[in-house]
Amino acid sequence: MAKLSLRDLDVSGKRVLVRVDFNVPTEERDGKIAITDDTRIRESLPTIQWLREHGAKVILMAHFGRPKGQAIEKYSLRPVADHLHTLIDHPVAFAHDTIGKIPEEIIAHMQPGDVTLLQNVRFYAGEEANDEMFAQELARLGDVYVNDAFGAAHRAHASTAGITKFVRQSAMGLLMEKELKHLKDELDPPAKPFVVIMGGSKVSDKIGVIKALMQKANSILIGGAMANTFWKAEGINVGSSRVEADKLDLARELLDVAKQRGVEFLVPSDAVVTQDIRAGAPTKIASVQTGVEDGWQAVDVGPATVERYQQQIAGARTILWNGPLGIFEIPDFSKGTFAIAQALADSDATTIIGGGDSVTAVKQAGLADKMTFISTGGGASLELLEGKELPGVAALSERS
Ligand code: 3PG
Repeated sequence: MAKLSLRDLDVSGKRVLVRVDFNVPTEERDGKIAITDDTRIRESLPTIQWLREHGAKVILMAHFGRPKGQAIEKYSLRPVADHLHTLIDHPVAFAHDTIGKIPEEIIAHMQPGDVTLLQNVRFYAGEEANDEMFAQELARLGDVYVNDAFGAAHRAHASTAGITKFVRQSAMGLLMEKELKHLKDELDPPAKPFVVIMGGSKVSDKIGVIKALMQKANSILIGGAMANTFWKAEGINVGSSRVEADKLDLARELLDVAKQRGVEFLVPSDAVVTQDIRAGAPTKIASVQTGVEDGWQAVDVGPATVERYQQQIAGARTILWNGPLGIFEIPDFSKGTFAIAQALADSDATTIIGGGDSVTAVKQAGLADKMTFISTGGGASLELLEGKELPGVAALSERS
């Protein structure tokens, strides 16, 4: 059954508790915390602005980092409150505590359209423990609950799941809806041919998702260090490349399942190899015929592989990409990843970037606005693509 949406709620004059994912990358500049990518905050704006326009008092809850139940200053959400203020052009009150008197007093003085951000929910151990008392304390601060934190929806925590037991209504926010539409509904079933590109370092991180997508995909294209494990499993010498030696049987199993199902399962036919992972280090091309010499390691897919993958992409109607094809952070090893990003940008297919490092790669290539959809979730997107139910979604009210 469908879940209740923000749009189904009467929020006028109400205190609306909104769980957002403001777990953004930061760095220290001149002794201050600076946000290096505010995409997750910007993606929450449609929900925040919708609520403000409909006369709600908006109370935002979020986690930041993994402080493990301790109030550690470097994990304070204060810099995020300041940043949000600049984005919505309206003051954002920051509650220095997550529950209790401090937020209660601020909230008591809120007017419709006002926004308050509570301190990091993970400053309390009850958050990750999904503790009922803590969930109840949070729930007391609002009248209705909205979950817009797709990136944290795979966590069954107090502010993402437990809280729903103590509020009258709990609904999906606009970002949550958008993520579920592209990563679930549109792939159920996808317009075919459906091409899946899987990169990243470990096969073990992606087994579940590869197995699940094999039931829907026409072809699966493999890249990243994960490809080395497939090469080794097929008896190709991988030199000093990064390999998961205990996952060779698994790699063979995936190849077998693909064969049985009639899914084209493409592993690289060549790779860029180097002796040294640093910019400017000499490189050469190794192939499935030559293998990788000892002392050398694969750091990107090679030109022949890029060409084969581009052909697959050109014929697709739906493309899902998760994980870079090489160490794209170093320009000499980024060609394969960026060529694939460009091929997606040039394609007329629905292009879905499934979160994590491939999102960074697409942004670095300057091609983000050429994609149909870019997910804000990392682990959450993978679990959803695997077909798992996300606790943060399951806990929401049904639409009656
Ligand atoms: C993320 O950054 O993937 C989410 O915000 C979840 O964070 P977590 O892995 O610390 O739970």
